[in-house]
Amino acid sequence: MNLIDDIDEILIPEDVLKARIRELGERISGDYAGKEPLLVGILTGAVIFVSDLLRSITIPVQLDFMAISSYGNSTESSGIVRILKDLNQSIVGRHVIIVDDIIDTGYTMDYLLETLKARYPASLAVCALLDKASRRRRHVPIHYRGFEIPDKFVVGYGLDYSGIYRNLPFICVLKPEVYGLGGNLHETYRGIPTR
Ligand code: IMP
Ligand code: MG
Repeated sequence: MNLIDDIDEILIPEDVLKARIRELGERISGDYAGKEPLLVGILTGAVIFVSDLLRSITIPVQLDFMAISSYGNSTESSGIVRILKDLNQSIVGRHVIIVDDIIDTGYTMDYLLETLKARYPASLAVCALLDKASRRRRHVPIHYRGFEIPDKFVVGYGLDYSGIYRNLPFICVLKPEVYGLGGNLHETYRGIPTR
């Protein structure tokens, strides 16, 4: 039983991810010099991305997290979003960068932007590792974008399918049969929505 057996195609290999995240970190370090930005990682999908991004930033920076749930099935979100874990701190007057794994329909980021905008940050920016632009339903500005990807459900590097596959160190597509019968995904986990 090995996760590798469930992979159809590697979309973004580990070294390509690393190089791109280093570039994003350099850009953020330049753009926010003297501003001590606050990275807001969106749990759970962004944990690996935000921790690598954080270490590629060379200026003083802080880290906080939010967790949200969206009602929908395991592979598609809906417009209804709810906060499960809020920030630990006020963002009044802070330079906030929301860091998420992927922007798909845009519903999640649209909600986050509206919610955090209402808390009077000095500035608010979006950093997303992946952009599935062809699926967008809500326009959201992406100030720092890792990669645009095609309309495929991807896992790895923090992204999951039914809670599994986050630990794969690259971005990949699973074999079609994983979503049906077969594959390493235990049937207990199938169809349970996760973030
Ligand atoms: P949106 O609200 O449709 O933009 O969805 C954003 C969230 O849905 C992401 O933060 C992910 O948690 C999840 N998601 C969207 N597409 C994928 C995918 O291809 N793989 C894994 N999770 C995804
Ligand atoms: Mg997510």
